[in-house]
Amino acid sequence: MGALAIRGLSSDFRAAGSVFVRTRDFPLAVDALRHRRTSRRAFGGWVAGNSLRAWEYAWTMRQVAKHGVGSGAAVDFGAGKSPTPILLARLGYTTAVVDSDQLDDEYSNEWQWVDYGQWGIKTHRAGMEDRLFDEGSLSVAVSVSAIEHMPAETRRQSIGEISRAVHVGGLVVLTIDVLPDGKHLWNFAVDEIEPEEVHGTIDAFVDELQKSGLRLISREACPMKGDSDQLVEAFVLTKT
Ligand SMILES: C[S@@+](CC[C@H](N)C(=O)[O-])C[C@H]1O[C@@H](n2cnc3c(N)ncnc32)[C@H](O)[C@@H]1O
Repeated sequence: MGALAIRGLSSDFRAAGSVFVRTRDFPLAVDALRHRRTSRRAFGGWVAGNSLRAWEYAWTMRQVAKHGVGSGAAVDFGAGKSPTPILLARLGYTTAVVDSDQLDDEYSNEWQWVDYGQWGIKTHRAGMEDRLFDEGSLSVAVSVSAIEHMPAETRRQSIGEISRAVHVGGLVVLTIDVLPDGKHLWNFAVDEIEPEEVHGTIDAFVDELQKSGLRLISREACPMKGDSDQLVEAFVLTKT
């Protein structure tokens, strides 16, 4: 085994280890390890540098496995470069992704635009606020750490489009970054998007979700902190 592969292996165990230390949830840590392997195989050895993703991917996919019906259409909104679309397809969903390529393919990190066609996944280079899917056509919608990276007005439109596209009884799983105060939504892409008061709070976000016709099944705070001290809140919802 080469030095790169050994370094990759030990960073994967470190990431899974920190999920275990923070959660004491061994199966979740094992999933985190497996999802990093999926990412490495798919993207030539690449994995997300952001340490929160180990938890977010494992938690998101656990919710989909638990609450999803296992068939129909699934979309990862703001997919960037991530194993989640591949994992959704593996679960049996006809999968698509939507990403606006917000940073013009400039970064070789999880913001990088990827065409998932080689995994049979339809890839839309578009905004999640755009009307792309027929009403009620999706069984599952997921979005991992994407919806905080757009202005509040675009976020509200995006929530409306996600809710419209998911059928009644369908599943929505979202994670969103929050500022270290635990209250305001993360308001940066590369630069500040808008003042934090305009960007809004996590309570306002929950209100927006419910007003769009999504009912909260559960909510969880990620027990890990990001490299910039950001926090993550995670939501499981169903369309009413
Ligand atoms: C922090 S990255 C997260 C990527 C991936 N979901 C992950 O799990 O790591 C944020 C992603 O959201 C995308 N994004 C930002 N605004 C968007 C919008 N309005 N519509 C669709 N995608 C958007 C960006 O292009 C980027 O790929």
